[in-house]
Amino acid sequence: MWIVASDVDGTLTGDRAALDRLAARLTELRASGRLRLIYSTGRRLEQVVSGIADEGLPEPDAVICQVGTEIYVSPLSQDLPTLEAWRELLLREYHREEAEAFLEAIPGLRMQPEMFNTELKTSCFLDECPNPEAAAQEIRRRVAPFANRYQVTWSSGRDLDILPASSGKGKAIRFLLEILDPGHENVVVAGDTGNDATMFQEFPRGIIVANAQPELVEVAEELNHHQIYRATHSFAGGVEEGLEHFGVLNTDSRLR
Ligand code: GLC
Repeated sequence: MWIVASDVDGTLTGDRAALDRLAARLTELRASGRLRLIYSTGRRLEQVVSGIADEGLPEPDAVICQVGTEIYVSPLSQDLPTLEAWRELLLREYHREEAEAFLEAIPGLRMQPEMFNTELKTSCFLDECPNPEAAAQEIRRRVAPFANRYQVTWSSGRDLDILPASSGKGKAIRFLLEILDPGHENVVVAGDTGNDATMFQEFPRGIIVANAQPELVEVAEELNHHQIYRATHSFAGGVEEGLEHFGVLNTDSRLR
């Protein structure tokens, strides 16, 4: 049994024809009981549900939303409650007002819309700061003494998230797998930006699509003992290429 845990935006989405081809293969493998599919995304649950209806995303077995702070197990519906055990664990270390205080008086910082700011996630845009990298560095410096309760995620030269220290996409996948599939070994992750880095740190097999941001590539390059596959194709085509590399799609029932 393979577990494929993938980011959505810019990793699976971006090339609809490639996604349709990959989705058909993943759907068949899921149906035959040889694969479990998990999305690990910055999206909200309803954006994933609408992505399955409208963007060609295949049905997953579970979804991790809001950068690893919410976990949902299929069958998905718009108003499905998050996995309560995960929420409770994270609430023990995270206080929204404290998290917001790390962002005070950073010139040019804009908070993200309230729908992306939750009891467990505080997110802003730094792209209009005079020097976005320096602003991210300053926020990291402020958060560092509180690393037992908070972590910073910096993606695409624009998005900065302050998350509970125990959360993030990688740790959320680990927590979910303890419930879904306790013996799991054959996990492959896929991503394109900084908020995917924790998946690569947590699991040794990973696919970086060709359109990835430099901040993810940098993290991956430091993970010497990991089997990281740098795809030559972008988006879903790169994920498909990586899954073939790891032998996930190489079965008798190949659809093409
Ligand atoms: C997604 C989320 C956003 C977050 C970003 C990077 O775009 O919607 O809130 O800042 O991912 O993690």
